[in-house]
Amino acid sequence: NVSASEMRTEGGMSTGVVAVVTEPQFAQRYREYLQKMKLLDREHRAEKMPDGAVALPVLGETLREQHLLALRSCVAPGSTCLLTHLPDPVPSKKAQVCPPAQRLCREVRRWVEGQGVTWSAELEADLPRSWQRHGNLLLLSEDCFQAKQWKNLEPELWKTIASALGVQRLAKRGKVLPDGPRTPAVTLLLGDNSWVEHVDNGIRYKFDVTRCMFSFGNISEKLRVASMSCAGEVVVDLYSGIGYFTLPFLVHAGAAFVHACEWNPHAVVALRKNLEINGVSDRCQIHFGDNRTLKLSNIADRVNLGLIPSSEEGWPIACQVLRQDAGGILHIHQNVDSFPGKNLQPHGSSRTENSYPQKITTNKGENGATRDFRGKVPSSATKLEWQRWAESAETQIATLLQQVHGKPWKTQILHIQLVKSYAPHVDHIVLDLECRPCPLIG
Ligand SMILES: C[S@@+](CC[C@H](N)C(=O)[O-])C[C@H]1O[C@@H](n2cnc3c(N)ncnc32)[C@H](O)[C@@H]1O
Repeated sequence: NVSASEMRTEGGMSTGVVAVVTEPQFAQRYREYLQKMKLLDREHRAEKMPDGAVALPVLGETLREQHLLALRSCVAPGSTCLLTHLPDPVPSKKAQVCPPAQRLCREVRRWVEGQGVTWSAELEADLPRSWQRHGNLLLLSEDCFQAKQWKNLEPELWKTIASALGVQRLAKRGKVLPDGPRTPAVTLLLGDNSWVEHVDNGIRYKFDVTRCMFSFGNISEKLRVASMSCAGEVVVDLYSGIGYFTLPFLVHAGAAFVHACEWNPHAVVALRKNLEINGVSDRCQIHFGDNRTLKLSNIADRVNLGLIPSSEEGWPIACQVLRQDAGGILHIHQNVDSFPGKNLQPHGSSRTENSYPQKITTNKGENGATRDFRGKVPSSATKLEWQRWAESAETQIATLLQQVHGKPWKTQILHIQLVKSYAPHVDHIVLDLECRPCPLIG
């Protein structure tokens, strides 16, 4: 199964790179082709895979089917050519000698001085330290290029930055606008369009970086959704965005139908396109608008509530869409403050730390140890905070179900999944909550 992500963060935390995998005897020919096509990622080393194959890191976005075909049939006929995702790529010698941020500084400084402008500590401190690479578009963070002097150096400045970091397009984050859909306020600085594409677990996602929010660290949850068995199920995705969960439900989990709710018109444009390019439009209905006013009810076997810091405002509608006869499962995302004592024990809960009936899972490390995605093992105090929040959510949802459907329901915490560490002491988790109507007595 091809698993590749073309988004990566550099200069800061690494989320991996995309690589082409082939047999060792073809690696050199592959390398030459990728180099010629300007697709070879020179910042990371080629890696040997456990089966002896060689993985060559590439600059993701431009590696399209035509290149895979060329590699397989012209460059090295008979070779195996697959895409994979290397979660912890090793920096190349070149990158170790001069990391990208340092190279950027050296080249910008040389160019700025060439323009007759004096280089200063203020300018140096104002250079970007981290960015996201979406194929050939680099997305800079908000906290750079604030000094006034840069203004006179635009637009040539952007070409210098792009060339120093080996991309063709450049965009920069601003503050998230305080509007309802939380438009990300990204500005395109260089290039003629801001659409990017990435491929994850065989699914293609396209979106406009200036218009849509995208969540970087949710890969593990997308894979978990992809591995669920949802054959024959109707799913409601209350916060579908560009389809990060809607698509794995349809493409891999085998959901019969997904109702995808989204209020950002630009995300809806991307979602529609993504359903089409992945060939699943006929199994999805998009509900454009505020999901709290959704007219659906009594149809869902499963509801996904992928909004952080909290999806609590969507809980009543999630209860409303659940099937009245059979109930279903809710996947509730939440940022939980794991600072001990922050999440108070809900009223009426009699469970103690030692009496969890269900499973709590984080991403497993190679040696089977339980870790979060940065390799930390959550403490039992942290897990207790997740558990406390889950119990409180369970109580509230049981009440809502009774109100919405006018009869008692039973709920059960099936699972608590760590998605990522959002901030110090703040964990993004997902609660899988089973909700079933109580059988009528008598
Ligand atoms: C953080 S994104 C999540 C997208 C996807 N689930 C993910 O993890 O990448 C949340 C999405 O929900 C949408 N959204 C937030 N509140 C909404 C509401 N009340 N009704 C419909 N969509 C909403 C936002 O526009 C955004 O696209």
